[in-house]
Amino acid sequence: MKSTHMNGSYPNESETGQTLVIGSSGFIGRFITEACLDSGRPTYILVRSSSNSPSKASTIKFLQDKGAIVIYGSITDQEFMEKVLREYKIEVVISAVGGESILDQFSLIEAIKNVNTVKRFVPSEFGHDIDRAEPVEPGLTMYEQKSKIRRQIEECGIPYSYICCNSIAAWPYHDNTHPADVLPPLDRFQIYGDGTVKGTPALHLSFL
Ligand SMILES: NC(=O)c1ccc[n+]([C@@H]2O[C@H](COP(=O)([O-])OP(=O)(O)OC[C@H]3O[C@@H](n4cnc5c(N)ncnc54)[C@H](OP(=O)(O)O)[C@@H]3O)[C@@H](O)[C@H]2O)c1
Repeated sequence: MKSTHMNGSYPNESETGQTLVIGSSGFIGRFITEACLDSGRPTYILVRSSSNSPSKASTIKFLQDKGAIVIYGSITDQEFMEKVLREYKIEVVISAVGGESILDQFSLIEAIKNVNTVKRFVPSEFGHDIDRAEPVEPGLTMYEQKSKIRRQIEECGIPYSYICCNSIAAWPYHDNTHPADVLPPLDRFQIYGDGTVKGTPALHLSFL
Protein backbone atom coordinates (compact mmCIF):
# COMPACT_ATOMS: atom_id res chain seq x y z
CA MET A 1 0.00 0.00 0.00
CA LYS A 2 1.55 3.29 -1.05
CA SER A 3 0.90 6.00 1.48
CA THR A 4 1.43 9.70 1.89
CA HIS A 5 1.84 11.65 5.10
CA MET A 6 -0.43 14.65 5.15
CA ASN A 7 -0.19 17.69 7.40
CA GLY A 8 0.97 16.16 10.71
CA SER A 9 4.67 15.97 11.49
CA TYR A 10 6.61 12.86 10.53
CA PRO A 11 7.02 10.18 13.18
CA ASN A 12 10.47 10.03 14.72
CA GLU A 13 12.50 6.96 15.57
CA SER A 14 11.45 6.95 19.22
CA GLU A 15 7.88 6.14 18.14
CA THR A 16 8.46 2.42 18.09
CA GLY A 17 6.69 1.55 21.30
CA GLN A 18 3.45 -0.19 22.16
CA THR A 19 0.96 0.12 19.33
CA LEU A 20 -2.80 -0.35 19.52
CA VAL A 21 -4.60 -1.22 16.28
CA ILE A 22 -8.39 -0.83 16.14
CA GLY A 23 -10.27 -2.67 13.37
CA SER A 24 -7.81 -5.54 12.94
CA SER A 25 -10.55 -7.94 11.90
CA GLY A 26 -11.50 -5.61 9.05
CA PHE A 27 -10.55 -5.43 5.42
CA ILE A 28 -7.75 -2.84 5.72
CA GLY A 29 -6.99 -3.36 9.44
CA ARG A 30 -5.72 -6.89 8.97
CA PHE A 31 -2.95 -5.71 6.61
CA ILE A 32 -2.03 -2.84 8.93
CA THR A 33 -1.79 -5.19 11.90
CA GLU A 34 0.35 -7.67 10.00
CA ALA A 35 2.70 -4.87 8.93
CA CYS A 36 2.84 -3.61 12.50
CA LEU A 37 3.75 -7.06 13.81
CA ASP A 38 6.31 -7.54 11.04
CA SER A 39 7.96 -4.26 12.05
CA GLY A 40 8.60 -5.72 15.50
CA ARG A 41 6.38 -3.38 17.49
CA PRO A 42 4.56 -4.75 20.53
CA THR A 43 1.08 -4.85 18.96
CA TYR A 44 -2.24 -4.81 20.81
CA ILE A 45 -5.50 -5.22 18.93
CA LEU A 46 -8.90 -4.01 20.12
CA VAL A 47 -11.62 -6.50 19.26
CA ARG A 48 -15.33 -5.99 19.86
CA SER A 49 -16.84 -8.93 21.72
CA SER A 50 -19.72 -8.79 19.19
CA SER A 51 -17.17 -9.55 16.45
CA ASN A 52 -17.85 -13.27 16.17
CA SER A 53 -18.15 -14.15 12.47
CA PRO A 54 -16.03 -17.20 11.53
CA SER A 55 -13.91 -15.23 9.03
CA LYS A 56 -13.21 -12.48 11.58
CA ALA A 57 -12.45 -15.05 14.28
CA SER A 58 -9.90 -16.72 12.00
CA THR A 59 -8.30 -13.35 11.24
CA ILE A 60 -7.97 -12.61 14.95
CA LYS A 61 -6.51 -16.08 15.57
CA PHE A 62 -4.02 -15.58 12.72
CA LEU A 63 -2.92 -12.24 14.19
CA GLN A 64 -2.71 -13.68 17.71
CA ASP A 65 -0.50 -16.49 16.42
CA LYS A 66 1.74 -13.85 14.88
CA GLY A 67 2.08 -12.19 18.29
CA ALA A 68 -0.80 -9.71 18.58
CA ILE A 69 -2.24 -9.25 22.07
CA VAL A 70 -6.04 -9.10 22.07
CA ILE A 71 -7.98 -6.61 24.18
CA TYR A 72 -11.78 -6.89 24.09
CA GLY A 73 -13.81 -3.68 23.94
CA SER A 74 -15.13 -0.84 21.83
CA ILE A 75 -13.73 2.62 21.18
CA THR A 76 -17.14 4.04 22.06
CA ASP A 77 -16.40 3.30 25.74
CA GLN A 78 -14.21 6.30 26.53
CA GLU A 79 -13.50 5.39 30.16
CA PHE A 80 -12.40 1.90 29.14
CA MET A 81 -10.20 3.30 26.35
CA GLU A 82 -8.47 5.65 28.79
CA LYS A 83 -7.77 2.67 31.06
CA VAL A 84 -6.37 0.64 28.13
CA LEU A 85 -4.12 3.46 26.92
CA ARG A 86 -2.74 3.98 30.43
CA GLU A 87 -2.44 0.34 31.49
CA TYR A 88 -0.64 -0.85 28.33
CA LYS A 89 1.38 2.38 27.94
CA ILE A 90 0.20 2.76 24.34
CA GLU A 91 2.34 5.16 22.31
CA VAL A 92 0.80 4.74 18.86
CA VAL A 93 -2.90 4.30 18.06
CA ILE A 94 -3.94 3.21 14.57
CA SER A 95 -7.63 3.15 13.75
CA ALA A 96 -9.04 1.26 10.77
CA VAL A 97 -12.71 1.32 11.74
CA GLY A 98 -15.08 0.95 8.82
CA GLY A 99 -17.27 3.48 7.03
CA GLU A 100 -20.20 3.06 9.40
CA SER A 101 -18.06 3.68 12.50
CA ILE A 102 -16.04 6.77 11.54
CA LEU A 103 -17.78 8.97 14.13
CA ASP A 104 -17.12 6.37 16.88
CA GLN A 105 -13.61 7.84 16.84
CA PHE A 106 -14.80 10.97 18.69
CA SER A 107 -14.71 9.16 22.04
CA LEU A 108 -11.34 7.64 21.16
CA ILE A 109 -9.95 11.13 20.48
CA GLU A 110 -11.29 12.30 23.86
CA ALA A 111 -9.59 9.34 25.55
CA ILE A 112 -6.27 10.06 23.77
CA LYS A 113 -6.50 13.74 24.73
CA ASN A 114 -7.21 12.97 28.40
CA VAL A 115 -4.48 10.36 28.77
CA ASN A 116 -2.00 12.62 26.96
CA THR A 117 0.74 9.99 26.50
CA VAL A 118 0.01 8.86 22.92
CA LYS A 119 2.79 10.02 20.60
CA ARG A 120 0.92 9.42 17.35
CA PHE A 121 -2.66 8.83 16.26
CA VAL A 122 -3.46 7.49 12.80
CA PRO A 123 -7.23 7.84 12.28
CA SER A 124 -9.23 5.72 9.86
CA GLU A 125 -8.56 7.35 6.50
CA PHE A 126 -6.79 5.15 3.94
CA GLY A 127 -8.49 6.79 0.97
CA HIS A 128 -8.41 10.11 -0.84
CA ASP A 129 -7.21 13.31 0.78
CA ILE A 130 -10.64 14.41 1.97
CA ASP A 131 -9.63 18.07 2.27
CA ARG A 132 -8.82 18.17 -1.45
CA ALA A 133 -11.45 15.88 -2.96
CA GLU A 134 -14.94 16.92 -4.10
CA PRO A 135 -16.96 13.72 -3.80
CA VAL A 136 -20.66 13.16 -4.42
CA GLU A 137 -22.86 10.66 -2.62
CA PRO A 138 -22.59 7.88 -1.64
CA GLY A 139 -19.03 8.89 -0.74
CA LEU A 140 -19.80 12.45 0.43
CA THR A 141 -21.26 11.59 3.86
CA MET A 142 -18.25 9.50 4.83
CA TYR A 143 -15.85 12.21 3.62
CA GLU A 144 -17.68 14.77 5.75
CA GLN A 145 -17.44 12.47 8.76
CA LYS A 146 -13.72 11.89 8.22
CA SER A 147 -13.29 15.66 7.91
CA LYS A 148 -15.02 16.21 11.30
CA ILE A 149 -12.64 13.68 12.84
CA ARG A 150 -9.62 15.48 11.34
CA ARG A 151 -10.74 18.85 12.73
CA GLN A 152 -11.32 17.36 16.20
CA ILE A 153 -7.84 15.79 16.26
CA GLU A 154 -6.25 19.08 15.22
CA GLU A 155 -8.26 21.06 17.78
CA CYS A 156 -7.17 18.68 20.55
CA GLY A 157 -3.49 19.06 19.58
CA ILE A 158 -2.91 15.32 19.24
CA PRO A 159 0.12 14.31 17.08
CA TYR A 160 -1.32 12.63 13.99
CA SER A 161 -0.64 11.19 10.55
CA TYR A 162 -3.29 10.98 7.85
CA ILE A 163 -2.62 8.12 5.44
CA CYS A 164 -3.98 8.90 1.97
CA CYS A 165 -3.64 6.11 -0.56
CA ASN A 166 -6.55 6.92 -2.91
CA SER A 167 -8.76 4.08 -4.16
CA ILE A 168 -6.87 0.86 -3.70
CA ALA A 169 -9.31 -1.84 -2.84
CA ALA A 170 -12.54 -3.35 -4.15
CA TRP A 171 -15.37 -0.82 -4.76
CA PRO A 172 -15.24 1.59 -1.85
CA TYR A 173 -18.19 3.74 -2.99
CA HIS A 174 -20.78 1.04 -3.36
CA ASP A 175 -21.94 1.10 0.27
CA ASN A 176 -18.94 2.34 2.32
CA THR A 177 -19.26 -0.59 4.68
CA HIS A 178 -17.52 -3.79 3.76
CA PRO A 179 -16.37 -3.83 0.16
CA ALA A 180 -14.88 -7.30 0.44
CA ASP A 181 -18.15 -8.98 1.35
CA VAL A 182 -20.86 -7.06 -0.48
CA LEU A 183 -21.23 -7.46 -4.22
CA PRO A 184 -22.24 -4.31 -6.11
CA PRO A 185 -25.69 -4.47 -7.72
CA LEU A 186 -25.47 -6.42 -10.97
CA ASP A 187 -28.91 -5.44 -12.33
CA ARG A 188 -28.55 -1.66 -12.39
CA PHE A 189 -25.98 1.04 -12.97
CA GLN A 190 -25.81 4.01 -10.59
CA ILE A 191 -24.93 7.44 -11.96
CA TYR A 192 -23.39 9.45 -9.14
CA GLY A 193 -24.41 13.09 -8.58
CA ASP A 194 -26.72 14.75 -11.09
CA GLY A 195 -25.16 13.07 -14.10
CA THR A 196 -22.85 15.97 -14.95
CA VAL A 197 -20.10 15.07 -12.47
CA LYS A 198 -16.78 14.35 -14.17
CA GLY A 199 -15.19 11.07 -13.23
CA THR A 200 -12.28 8.86 -14.12
CA PRO A 201 -12.72 5.19 -14.93
CA ALA A 202 -10.59 3.15 -12.56
CA LEU A 203 -9.28 -0.38 -12.86
CA HIS A 204 -8.96 -2.08 -9.50
CA LEU A 205 -6.19 -4.62 -9.27
CA SER A 206 -6.12 -7.09 -6.42
CA PHE A 207 -3.01 -6.86 -4.24
CA LEU A 208 -3.72 -10.00 -2.27
N1 LIG B 1 -8.89 3.38 -0.38
C1 LIG B 1 -9.68 2.35 -0.53
O1 LIG B 1 -9.85 1.81 -1.64
C2 LIG B 1 -10.40 1.80 0.67
C3 LIG B 1 -11.09 0.59 0.56
C4 LIG B 1 -11.74 0.10 1.69
C5 LIG B 1 -11.71 0.82 2.90
N2 LIG B 1 -11.04 2.00 2.94
C6 LIG B 1 -11.00 2.77 4.22
O2 LIG B 1 -10.32 1.98 5.19
C7 LIG B 1 -10.93 2.18 6.47
C8 LIG B 1 -11.35 0.81 7.02
O3 LIG B 1 -12.38 0.28 6.19
P1 LIG B 1 -12.64 -1.30 6.06
O4 LIG B 1 -13.48 -1.51 4.86
O5 LIG B 1 -11.34 -2.03 6.22
O6 LIG B 1 -13.55 -1.57 7.36
P2 LIG B 1 -14.22 -2.96 7.78
O7 LIG B 1 -13.76 -4.07 6.94
O8 LIG B 1 -15.70 -2.70 7.88
O9 LIG B 1 -13.63 -3.19 9.23
C9 LIG B 1 -13.92 -2.31 10.27
C10 LIG B 1 -13.22 -2.80 11.52
O10 LIG B 1 -13.44 -1.83 12.56
C11 LIG B 1 -13.94 -2.49 13.72
N3 LIG B 1 -14.79 -1.56 14.47
C12 LIG B 1 -15.85 -0.85 13.99
N4 LIG B 1 -16.37 -0.09 14.97
C13 LIG B 1 -15.62 -0.34 16.09
C14 LIG B 1 -15.68 0.12 17.44
N5 LIG B 1 -16.62 1.00 17.84
N6 LIG B 1 -14.75 -0.34 18.32
C15 LIG B 1 -13.81 -1.23 17.93
N7 LIG B 1 -13.70 -1.71 16.66
C16 LIG B 1 -14.61 -1.27 15.76
C17 LIG B 1 -14.71 -3.68 13.15
O11 LIG B 1 -14.88 -4.63 14.17
P3 LIG B 1 -16.04 -5.75 14.16
O12 LIG B 1 -15.35 -6.99 13.65
O13 LIG B 1 -16.48 -5.86 15.57
O14 LIG B 1 -17.15 -5.27 13.25
C18 LIG B 1 -13.76 -4.13 12.06
O15 LIG B 1 -12.69 -4.86 12.58
C19 LIG B 1 -12.11 3.15 6.26
O16 LIG B 1 -11.69 4.46 6.59
C20 LIG B 1 -12.40 3.03 4.78
O17 LIG B 1 -12.95 4.23 4.24
C21 LIG B 1 -10.37 2.49 1.87
